[in-house]
Amino acid sequence: MTFACREDDVPPGEGRNITLEGKRVALFRTDTGWYAVDAVCPHKGGPLADGIVCDHAVTCPLHDRSFDLRTGQGPGEDRVSAYPVELRDGAVYVAVGSPAAAPVAA
Ligand code: FES
Repeated sequence: MTFACREDDVPPGEGRNITLEGKRVALFRTDTGWYAVDAVCPHKGGPLADGIVCDHAVTCPLHDRSFDLRTGQGPGEDRVSAYPVELRDGAVYVAVGSPAAAPVAA
């Protein structure tokens, strides 16, 4: 697990771009928990951290493709990697390079 930020650094319902171990990650704080996925949309490179978040999905701001934040699955063959997130003492940690796991409670 790699330290990403403090919980207070990301307001509820928003996403942030972070770089962890050289990897660009979009970190989200949603009503259903914290999620981390690849920062770049596989369609044409849209910034997923700037997308609209609802429940456990983010919609890319460029062409409205939606990705499940739990699994990274998008429409058809489109997919991003999803990474486990853990909260400890007000800090947010992400396991980049690990397979997707259940989200952390909000
Ligand atoms: S770049 Fe994300 S949907 Fe096109």
